[in-house]
Amino acid sequence: MTNPNDAALEALRNAVALTPENTELANQLIKLLVELLRYDEAEQTARRALQHHPRSIPLQLSLAEIYFRAGKDSHALAIVETLVSGKNPDPRAMIMHARLLQRGGDIRGAVSSYREAVDRDDEVADPELESLLGIRDFSEHDPSDQPAPAAWQDEGLDEEIEITAERPEQGFESVGGMETVKEEIRVKIIYPLQHADMYAAYGKKIGGGILLYGPPGCGKTHLARATAGEVRAKFMSVGINDVLDMWIGNSEKNLHALFDQARRSKPCVLFFDEVDALGASRSDMKRSGGRQLINQFLSELDGVEADNEGVLCLAATNTPWHLDSAFRRPGRFDRVIFVPPPDPQARQEILDIQLAGKPTDSVDTRKIAAKTGDYSGADLKAIVDRAIEAKLHEAVKTGLPKPILTKDLMAAAKDVRPSTREWFSTARNHALYANEGGLYDDILDYLKIKK
Ligand SMILES: Nc1ncnc2c1ncn2[C@@H]1O[C@H](COP(=O)(O)OP(=O)(O)O)[C@@H](O)[C@H]1O
Ligand SMILES: [Mg+2]
Repeated sequence: MTNPNDAALEALRNAVALTPENTELANQLIKLLVELLRYDEAEQTARRALQHHPRSIPLQLSLAEIYFRAGKDSHALAIVETLVSGKNPDPRAMIMHARLLQRGGDIRGAVSSYREAVDRDDEVADPELESLLGIRDFSEHDPSDQPAPAAWQDEGLDEEIEITAERPEQGFESVGGMETVKEEIRVKIIYPLQHADMYAAYGKKIGGGILLYGPPGCGKTHLARATAGEVRAKFMSVGINDVLDMWIGNSEKNLHALFDQARRSKPCVLFFDEVDALGASRSDMKRSGGRQLINQFLSELDGVEADNEGVLCLAATNTPWHLDSAFRRPGRFDRVIFVPPPDPQARQEILDIQLAGKPTDSVDTRKIAAKTGDYSGADLKAIVDRAIEAKLHEAVKTGLPKPILTKDLMAAAKDVRPSTREWFSTARNHALYANEGGLYDDILDYLKIKK
């Protein structure tokens, strides 16, 4: 009783036994075994192949898939979580992650992981998973006649989104350096708020927001919060997850509710963090219906302008080139400001801010600032945190707490790598080859490249 599958199986088994290091063959055998529901043998084959190639991503994905099919979700998660935690996670691993999260009931996490995977590579799109997640495709359906997707009904995500409004205590004094950026914020949004009558008397139109961009960790989010503190306004930060919630839910309603909430909470800084996730210009985003969300967002933004008294709009992104240019039209985010890595003076200020209130003894922050070129504000914070940890460790061991010294910080700085260079290697290309009307001239200036 030989059937064709058995013959193929036997041939593949032999081939794999002869060349156990051939991952391609091993994967074919695994595929077939999975089709035949022989999970145990599939698992053994994957494990054996992984002994030869412990880092092979296709093999790890295969093993995760086997576990997933066999219902061993926690085993699958253990593999996939490692795969997606790296710097450049494989989109297929992210899809697998989304499936596992979906099955575990974490719809929100699943949607977020799914979106990111498809953003990275639209080849991995999975309609079946999309429908399980209740992700609507606006390009094909009229949203008004769409029934609510089951996923968000079950999860209760159709409730109106409420963003918690903070009341930041600290103003610009908590932000080191950035003098020109602070000044732009004052002129563009703070003075008009504080002197609305005067602006009206001169017939000066107010409105429009500021888009901050630059390498990660250089204080964009920090500065936005401090802007609210500076004018004693509330601070509403809208992040990527809120946006995704709107996406799975009834986005139009939620987005409108959000802007309404801001108008009710004035004075208020409405901050869109990592706004590129919302306003992606990538074609896949447009195709998958993100366009609808973008248009809605833009019209709400214009509405703020119409009735904008007391709502200050700020947004930040590390990847401005992914942002739809419609965001930058007048009345929207029409001031685009580069937030560079801190210069020596700013680094010194940041170190002073981070060390304030900590036990120190004549720390020479200027010396440390001089030695930390290319370090971001977040990197400097990491240096201080590390030095404090080392001191604490020592203090606990010896029972003698000692103040932080310059040399402790210098030692900590050796363990923290400056993180801003990587961003510039990408940014440089955009500034050189896609510098939309000089939009990124500041990057070229910073890199001292002639225009
Ligand atoms: N200019 C700065 N002044 C004070 N602290 C800063 C500054 N820049 C960064 N930091 C510190 O680094 C952390 C991370 O910065 P963040 O604002 O999140 O960066 P970004 O939003 O640009 O990625 C902040 O919470 C803050 O503690
Ligand atoms: Mg940020």
